[in-house]
Amino acid sequence: MRKAEQAKEQVKKYAYLFNCPVCGSGMTMAATASLVCANRHNFDLAKSGYLNLLRRPVKTQYDRELLAARKTIAESGFFTPLLLVVSTLLRERISHQKQSPTVILDAGCGEGSHLAALVSCLREETKANLIGVGVDLAREGIQMAAKHNPDLIWCVADLAKLPLEDAQFDAVLNILSPANYREFLRVLNAEGVLIKVVPGTNYLTELRAVFFTDHEKKTYSNERVIRQFDKYFQVVARQRVCSRFFVEEEILKPLLKMTPLTWHVPPERMEEVVRMGLKEVTVEFEVLLGRKA
Ligand SMILES: C[S@@+](CC[C@H](N)C(=O)[O-])C[C@H]1O[C@@H](n2cnc3c(N)ncnc32)[C@H](O)[C@@H]1O
Repeated sequence: MRKAEQAKEQVKKYAYLFNCPVCGSGMTMAATASLVCANRHNFDLAKSGYLNLLRRPVKTQYDRELLAARKTIAESGFFTPLLLVVSTLLRERISHQKQSPTVILDAGCGEGSHLAALVSCLREETKANLIGVGVDLAREGIQMAAKHNPDLIWCVADLAKLPLEDAQFDAVLNILSPANYREFLRVLNAEGVLIKVVPGTNYLTELRAVFFTDHEKKTYSNERVIRQFDKYFQVVARQRVCSRFFVEEEILKPLLKMTPLTWHVPPERMEEVVRMGLKEVTVEFEVLLGRKA
């Protein structure tokens, strides 16, 4: 099946997961390959296989170059130890007794590599009927995701106002992205879980040391984020994942490009660091698993 056809089939089958970004009513797929609500608000499925469910475009700092760099880094194995932990947590949640498919939302999915890798590995291991929906504000990211993974559903949307029905999701992933806990609680079903990944204290500490002089920026604490999570969800697991990542010469540029840590670094300084080289970096994450309190 052609990619566009595959995307259309997915959206048609799972249109019940969506609600209208304008009026909040349910959606169905029209013959014209668009999602339509009872009040005739209409959202086209792009030819490249994604839905744009934003009422107006939003310009973000996550541009095509940054997202392409994140994809290169994802393909280099940088996130593999993290994804192993997340897939184990998800696998424990997949019930073979369930009649309906297990539906996973990645809120702030970027260019989609994590959701695609997790769903593909879990489908293979468990043979379960799994559906993945990726949502991000950055259209460039969603375009990349749809191009490479037409077997999943991709939408440009705001995670602070998800165009999704209540209580339809078994798991929400929120990996290194902003959160809106009220929305996550709303879309999760009664047994649903939120898996949030935040940087650990030593995440890319070598880049902080090179680029920041100010002591405050040289160190990072995720405690505030974790306290916030705890206000909305009952934390049932908290796991630190730490590894060392050997930086191949051709990976250094994308590594510097993919992180918001270098957004305010002058290009000359970036070039200087590329010339100097960097051997290894620390990749430390904290994974939080929460259920509805
Ligand atoms: C650091 S990136 C992480 C992307 C991906 N999870 C990853 O680990 O590669 C943060 C992502 O959050 C997205 N984002 C920020 N605010 C958002 C919002 N309100 N709704 C949806 N996505 C948002 C950005 O567009 C960006 O893709």
